[in-house]
Amino acid sequence: MSDKAILEINAQKYEFPLKTGTENEVVVDISNLRSLTGGISTLDSGFKNTGSCESAITFLDGEKGILRYRGYSIEELAEKADFLEVAFLLIFGELPTREQRDKFHTDIKAQSVVDEDLKKILEAFPKSAHPMGVLSSLTSALTAFNPSSVNVNSEEDMYKAIVKIMGKFPVLVAWTHRKKQGLPLDYGDKSLGYVENVLKMMFRQPNEEYVQNKVLVDALDKLLILHADHEQNCSTSTVRIVGSSHAGLFASISAGISALWGPLHGGANQAVLEMLEAIKLDGGDTKKYMAKAKDKDDPFRLMGFGHRVYKNFDPRARIIKKAADEVLDDLGIEDPILDIAKGLEQEALKDSYFVDRKLYPNVDFYSGIIYRGMGIPTDMFTVMFALGRLPGWIAQWREMRLNKEPIGRPRQLYVGATERPFLEIDKR
Ligand code: CMC
Repeated sequence: MSDKAILEINAQKYEFPLKTGTENEVVVDISNLRSLTGGISTLDSGFKNTGSCESAITFLDGEKGILRYRGYSIEELAEKADFLEVAFLLIFGELPTREQRDKFHTDIKAQSVVDEDLKKILEAFPKSAHPMGVLSSLTSALTAFNPSSVNVNSEEDMYKAIVKIMGKFPVLVAWTHRKKQGLPLDYGDKSLGYVENVLKMMFRQPNEEYVQNKVLVDALDKLLILHADHEQNCSTSTVRIVGSSHAGLFASISAGISALWGPLHGGANQAVLEMLEAIKLDGGDTKKYMAKAKDKDDPFRLMGFGHRVYKNFDPRARIIKKAADEVLDDLGIEDPILDIAKGLEQEALKDSYFVDRKLYPNVDFYSGIIYRGMGIPTDMFTVMFALGRLPGWIAQWREMRLNKEPIGRPRQLYVGATERPFLEIDKR
């Protein structure tokens, strides 16, 4: 294969180097396109063909259904590692030794108290507020309470900001939930593992001891691992681009939470369950909803189907489908929603509309069913996704800072009015 690409514009030829990644992916490096061509740019709406950075964190192959964090397959990590190990791996590049893992956890625990005044901000929200909006606001507010986390220029400063957000974020997640449930706000328990602590903080009733359920701990651990990173998706790109202006880590994460909220991204897990509920209420007629999804005049989309990158299957969906069966079985829950989900999947897999467009169930198709089995309310699903994605966002932000990436600033093709004279208000 040649090592360059040639672009011809008005009989003038320009050469651009090809770059090959460690998994043999090839890109055309157009960094000097504008300077060579005198100002010509590219147009790529939705960045469907455009790489925004070089990254050594996550590799995914949408055709083959491969997802690896730092070279380790998602299947192996979901089976053998715990969430904190995966967080360390994503952020620092290697699986931790026992000592490194313990130190990381100790440092996180040392930062797992948030300022009491933050409760006043939470109090001001109506109970009806969507938890993602509340979580994004509280995360942003953390900056005000931790100003030293904004200017992070050394690795040491970055580490401090990282353990702070890893420690405080689960508290905010739990508080967001407890506020909605009308439960007193609580702090964590330092004697517990990271995920056990999350569950206790979320679900502890004020008048009884919280008893850990290993099935729930393992299921949540696995879900968080599956969501931990997914290379340059909408929220991660948001985190990187906000961070590229040297806004602090917490502000960047807060922006990422807002991006994740949308139903085409992380909000899909909530949308899937609402869709399955609606189908159930409507008599369980999956064929009717398949037809709606295919009708171009109907805005309805089959939520939990399709992915920008995975075009054969989403490896996370496979793991989650199996986990959903196991968790519901272990908890002794029979959920008709699971049957509707399986029915839809079966129909979509043999329907030419979905097959031709390579639309397969994605990670969110089954995750909501597990969350529901765990007693997590539907509007908290995307918050749980954010909790899982936190280490990925941190890792991507840290990599962007260490690589000294320039501020993110796309170009555009201007298609508005050309210059025109100003009209005084009474002449318009
Ligand atoms: N139901 C029905 N039709 C669909 C769906 C769907 N879920 N997804 C895509 N299509 C159709 C779409 O109408 C288009 O058809 P046509 O070529 O005839 O115009 C074709 O498939 C390609 O769709 P697209 O929107 O151009 O594809 P995209 O890569 O821009 O969008 C997606 C990917 C995930 C936004 C989209 O598939 C979707 O909206 N899915 C439902 C929402 C969802 O489950 N999102 C969670 C994604 S996984 C979690 C995460 O990583 O955030």
